[in-house]
Amino acid sequence: MRISEINYINFRNLKDNNLKFHRKFNLFLGKNGQGKTSILEAIYFSATGKSFRTSKNSELIRYGLQKTGAFIAYEDIVSEKSISVKLAGGKKEYSYNRKKVKYDGFHGKVNAVSFIPEDISLIVGAPGIRRSFFDYEIAQSNYDYFSDLKNYTKILKLRNKYLKEKQYTDPIFEIYQEEFIRLGARILKKRLEYVKNISILLNLNYRKLFDEKKELSLRYSCFLGEVKKATLEELESGIREKIRKNFSREKRYGYSIVGPQKDDFLFLLNEREAKSYASQGEKKSIVFSLKLAEIDMIIKEKRDTPIFIIDDISSYFDSIRKENILNYFNHRDIQLFISSTSDLGIKAKKFFIEKGDIHDGDKEC
Ligand SMILES: Nc1ncnc2c1ncn2[C@@H]1O[C@H](COP(=O)(O)OP(=O)(O)OP(=O)(O)O)[C@@H](O)[C@H]1O
Ligand SMILES: [Mg+2]
Repeated sequence: MRISEINYINFRNLKDNNLKFHRKFNLFLGKNGQGKTSILEAIYFSATGKSFRTSKNSELIRYGLQKTGAFIAYEDIVSEKSISVKLAGGKKEYSYNRKKVKYDGFHGKVNAVSFIPEDISLIVGAPGIRRSFFDYEIAQSNYDYFSDLKNYTKILKLRNKYLKEKQYTDPIFEIYQEEFIRLGARILKKRLEYVKNISILLNLNYRKLFDEKKELSLRYSCFLGEVKKATLEELESGIREKIRKNFSREKRYGYSIVGPQKDDFLFLLNEREAKSYASQGEKKSIVFSLKLAEIDMIIKEKRDTPIFIIDDISSYFDSIRKENILNYFNHRDIQLFISSTSDLGIKAKKFFIEKGDIHDGDKEC
């Protein structure tokens, strides 16, 4: 997949513009505070409908204005297409090939993977950060998961409402509960499969790029205890049993204490939890390897490459790691959007950013 062009208006500090991209390396250069992260964010926003650094959409609109929007032309393995997102009055409007669509008709059309310095929170942050990350990643290339998750979230809210209002003798509660179990089992099954597959890629990438002497793995920490391989039926009966054992507590608390919304994903470096034991440099390398593994997973599921965004590469990695990373991409057919405060000495289409104004250098690779 390649993005050939972007148009944006009123996005952060960026001056409205139209940029044409190179098929492979695109490098955004500028001093601090000029708009490097913002242009990468505009690309990510138009591809996915969300930001990689904030959940508050209003932050994306240029100060003092009411709306923003971004449009991209891209090609996937089949043909040339376009998508766009507009944001106004707290609402988003999506389009695909210039026709308005709902989010479902937009989601996953362009696959984008981003790496920003703040992603370290995937290791050091709360479990909710990891859950949202992996949920989004799985959903990105798996529509069933996307819809199961959406329905599960609705059912969980309803189940919690009934528990809070002590309406668990209502026959409707029983129906919700069955759906809660059915969807919960489907989510667990997919997450377990995903963790198993990505863990292998994660380790391969980590060893290849950063440290061949260590073993990196991802473990799913499940509210059901240790589950390796299980059928949907086994997972359903596991959840049912767990509810039975915890139901009096759930009634007392007034919300669901069992379910995949309680689970976590643990990174283990040489079998020790990275959150507590890995060094800063190792944590950064783990997150980067995770993003590379994510790219591989998307290729496997969608049979097309996602675009990859790397923000602030020079301040994040030392020169050896940086070189390893750039070498790695020399050999892969993936479109990259990288920002840096200093030139990287690579062949790339360069974009220079000053106070939100972007112009491209004449040289292309
Ligand atoms: N909604 C907004 N409207 C206008 N300007 C904004 C908005 N949000 C952020 N800014 C400003 O845009 C400027 C560019 O921010 P950005 O994070 O893109 O810089 P950067 O080039 O990535 O800097 P650094 O190298 O420090 O990471 C900053 O001065 C920031 O305060
Ligand atoms: Mg920045």
